[in-house]
Amino acid sequence: MTKIRLIHGDITLLAVDAIVNAANRSLLGGGGVDGAIHRAAGSQLLEACKKLNGCETGQAKITPGFRLPAKYVIHTVGPVWRGGQDRETELLSQCYLNSLELAKQYECRQVAFPNISTGVYGFPKTKAAHTALSAVKDYLTAYTGFEEISFVCFDQENYQLYKDLLPSFFSQDQITF
Ligand code: APR
Repeated sequence: MTKIRLIHGDITLLAVDAIVNAANRSLLGGGGVDGAIHRAAGSQLLEACKKLNGCETGQAKITPGFRLPAKYVIHTVGPVWRGGQDRETELLSQCYLNSLELAKQYECRQVAFPNISTGVYGFPKTKAAHTALSAVKDYLTAYTGFEEISFVCFDQENYQLYKDLLPSFFSQDQITF
């Protein structure tokens, strides 16, 4: 059974197979978690990203983690929130599903997600949490090869949200806080 871990902290510190980056379509770095990951990974990450030719919203691409403790970085591009009439929820769900599919292809066993799109991109946190947990739950129903999926919340609001919501999506014996 895949373990689900909730972490309140910095995703760049996790020694897992893959951390997911909330990138932008250029894949050339930015602020937020994107900036933190690039700073921690070092300049080789940007050099690797330059060869990827960007990434469409909802899609995901993978690079090594370089100086990060994580083996890989899966770069995904979340939707910018524009009021909810522009397929934002569907595209955010695709970020999680495509990231997990790529992690599976690269035989990753532990994957850690930040709260994609809930920062600069303005996606409402509650709706984003429901979308993320539903997508991951659906994927894990079909594929049991992951050892652990972590949700890494940097801010208190997201952490409390996930803490309240997790038991509605996963069994108590599956969850580690
Ligand atoms: N570890 C984990 N989560 C983090 C970290 C970190 N070190 N730093 C920030 N976060 C959290 C934020 O608190 C937020 O909850 O990541 C979540 C996503 O916020 P952003 O990083 O702003 O990402 P997003 O909303 O998807 O916007 C993407 O921002 O940084 C730019 O280049 C990025 O243009 C892209 C846009």
